[in-house]
Amino acid sequence: MINAHLMQLVINASNDGIVVAEKEGEDNILIYVNPAFERLTGYGRDEILYQDCRFLQSGDRDQPSLESIRMALKEGGSCRQILRNYRKDGTPFWNELSLSTVKSEADGHTYFVGVQKDVTVQVRAQQRITQLEAELAEARQTIARLNATNGENKTAN
Ligand SMILES: Cc1cc2nc3c(=O)[nH]c(=O)nc-3n(C[C@H](O)[C@H](O)[C@H](O)COP(=O)(O)O)c2cc1C
Repeated sequence: MINAHLMQLVINASNDGIVVAEKEGEDNILIYVNPAFERLTGYGRDEILYQDCRFLQSGDRDQPSLESIRMALKEGGSCRQILRNYRKDGTPFWNELSLSTVKSEADGHTYFVGVQKDVTVQVRAQQRITQLEAELAEARQTIARLNATNGENKTAN
């Protein structure tokens, strides 16, 4: 096993956000955020500790991926979902959240660990591919229609 100090150094050095939350009523409140989470979101730890992470969604709450997250939290399971989130300055980003449940035998409490990764570049590239595929399919249909019309005209002549 590595010691607690080395573990802290490792978590501080992570490029991805790492947070720990514990259940309090209907909320899961943050009790730890690493420096990468502060860089990713633009919030300092003192501004957000003891809050539920849903503040990152701002008013953008109608997201299908939230259903899987709610289910994982309710059942004490895990999930990996991509969410639209907003930094402190309001800029949007796509956040790939990996969520897991940790049951502590020491204190009998349930904790959740979240790992956040900015996947904005990947999501935008995928959206562009989807858009280009749709345009290509439309262009192919147009070509097929033109070919069919040409064929009819040749037969008529
Ligand atoms: C450990 C942990 C980390 C989370 N990280 C994020 C996050 O980075 N972004 C986000 O939008 N929601 C995050 N969530 C999910 C929200 O905090 C919240 O649980 C979710 O929106 C479901 O609550 P709701 O029913 O009010 O929407 C996280 C939840 C937990 C427990």
